[in-house]
Amino acid sequence: MILISGATGNVGGELLRQLRSEGEAVRALTRDPARAKLPADVEVVKGDLGAPGSLTKALAGARALFLMMSGNEAAVLAEAARAGVRRVVLLSSVAVETRPESLIGRVHRDAERAVEESGLEWTILRPGQFASNTRSWGAQLAAGDVVRTPFARVGLPAIHTGDIAAVARVALTREGHAGAVHSLTGPQAITPVEQVAAIGRVTGRALRHEEITPERAKEAMSAHMPADIVEATLEFLGSPTVAETRPLPTVETVTGKPARTFEEWARDNAEAFR
Ligand SMILES: NC(=O)c1ccc[n+]([C@@H]2O[C@H](COP(=O)([O-])OP(=O)(O)OC[C@H]3O[C@@H](n4cnc5c(N)ncnc54)[C@H](OP(=O)(O)O)[C@@H]3O)[C@@H](O)[C@H]2O)c1
Repeated sequence: MILISGATGNVGGELLRQLRSEGEAVRALTRDPARAKLPADVEVVKGDLGAPGSLTKALAGARALFLMMSGNEAAVLAEAARAGVRRVVLLSSVAVETRPESLIGRVHRDAERAVEESGLEWTILRPGQFASNTRSWGAQLAAGDVVRTPFARVGLPAIHTGDIAAVARVALTREGHAGAVHSLTGPQAITPVEQVAAIGRVTGRALRHEEITPERAKEAMSAHMPADIVEATLEFLGSPTVAETRPLPTVETVTGKPARTFEEWARDNAEAFR
């Protein structure tokens, strides 16, 4: 049985679907089963990565764990090892290698270190920008046909969250990925202007992009994100390193299927923008 943390989220949700369609036994971890909105026949267990003592029931009988970052990895992994878990796949971030001194780089590297020292068989995934970040445009698109973002023409190889999940699925269920660090991107760099156009095509809406200043974006983001995360995110979006803009072949190397484009992600998730 595989325990999936983040099963109500973008990557964990896709992973749950993929593992179930392969016939794997899975269990979904959530802090709030009442809000989880997962299919009725999914085993959903309440637990909080921030309180490892709450994970006993979720970990019982699990042989593998898909782990979201929580800042509490050492204690979570000690619980997992006690429960008999043998394999862990961590969702980390490309920032560990492209900007190791940044807040995002440091917290993910701490999580990776705990995984490496856990004594379990481990695999680390380091994705770059998620295609699903554009879900944050949902409110603007519900209110009208204009999406306002900064850095209109800065392109990043946004990754389909289903492709991150596919790499996780392979690492969790096949041999040959123990001790591997997989850096992951989508197949091509795409700008916010191009993302808005792609969402317009898949939804049949006449959408427009309007560029705003980083200062204005900062104000809007600060309403629902801590200031240091806002700073780090704007830095990443506005001034990517060369490595952050380059597509990598890893998705295809690991899964045997080419990485999907942003437009494919938008088509698969079009209901978020209608
Ligand atoms: N967005 C990006 O561009 C990007 C790039 C690189 C790496 N990442 C990594 O990916 C992560 C986000 O992944 P995502 O988009 O798939 O997630 P998401 O959709 O934002 O959802 C977060 C998930 O984490 C679970 N969770 C949060 N805190 C928890 C806790 N204390 N105990 C148990 N579960 C907890 C939530 O479950 P419940 O609410 O149901 O409990 C939810 O399923 C980031 O945090 C970062 O580490 C993101």
